Amino acid sequence: MKKKLTTPEKIVLVCVGSKCEDKGNKDLVQDLKKIIKKQHLKEVCEVIKVDCFGKCKYAPIISIQPNNIWLSDISQKEIKTKVENAILSPNMDSLESEK
Ligand code: FES
Repeated sequence: MKKKLTTPEKIVLVCVGSKCEDKGNKDLVQDLKKIIKKQHLKEVCEVIKVDCFGKCKYAPIISIQPNNIWLSDISQKEIKTKVENAILSPNMDSLESEK
C-alpha cells in the first residue's frame, strides 16, 4: 500500500549556515519545533533547515512560505517573536510589511 505524502500549510525555512547560526539561528530550529508541538500545529507547519541561502551578508535569514516572507538581519529576540507569530497567525498579516 502506498503512503500518502502530506504537505504542511506553512513552511519555515531556517538557514543554519555558519553566518546565520552565529547571528541567532543556532537554537531557532529546536525552539520552533517545540512551539509547533506545544501548539499542536505539526500538521500545519514544518520547519526545514537550509544550509545556506547564499545571502550571508543579510544573516540571519528565515523564509516563511507560501507567503514569500523573508526575515533578515534581525535580532535573536525578534526572530523568535516574528516567526512564532507567523506560525500562529492564520493569515500572517502582521508580517506582510516585512516583504
Ligand atoms: S549562512 Fe545563512 S545565508 Fe549563508
